[in-house]
Amino acid sequence: MKFNAMTGALLGALLLTLSNAYAETPAAKADKPVHGEYRDWRVLGVSHRTEKNTLRAIVGNDKAIEAARGGKINPWPDGAVIGKIVWKERPHPNWPSAIVPGEFSAAEAMIKDSKKFPETGGWGFGHWEGDKLVMNSKEKSAECFACHTAVKDADYVFTIPALP
Ligand code: HEC
Repeated sequence: MKFNAMTGALLGALLLTLSNAYAETPAAKADKPVHGEYRDWRVLGVSHRTEKNTLRAIVGNDKAIEAARGGKINPWPDGAVIGKIVWKERPHPNWPSAIVPGEFSAAEAMIKDSKKFPETGGWGFGHWEGDKLVMNSKEKSAECFACHTAVKDADYVFTIPALP
């Protein structure tokens, strides 16, 4: 009897230690990423990048949504912010032909301010680190901008608003 109670207590303590250790690992933290204010923004579009095996939700702040619904997106107005949230793709566990978001990968941003960012088409390029929006370095922004010049005629934005 005494032996059993003691073993039980020891086992309990061991399990507690193990579960605490697990909770502290970065992998466990990555399972629940911290998101920025874009979580409350509305949808502009979605995309599936087949060359990157990722799914993306493209969302906008109020200014961006208002502009998209009013058809005033060439150019997009100053103050518009577009967020792109990226997940790795995976088959739905209960319906494999449905491809759904898996692990969170990144959240990037384009911020329209024609006075602040004249060298990159009036757009600032950034990304969210946890819940903080951080602007990219000049070099990194130049890379973003270079690829986005493919859609210069659409004010450097690829997304065609899907809920106008
Ligand atoms: C090699 C080309 C390429 C580069 C480099 C690139 N993008 Fe894009 N970006 C795209 C394409 C294509 C889309 C539309 C499809 C999608 O959702 O990925 C897009 C979409 C976006 C969107 C949603 C608005 C829109 O234009 O549709 C944001 C925000 C964005 N990118 C931010 C960035 C940032 C920040 C960087 C630099 C760190 C960057 N991009 C670099 C190709 C690129």
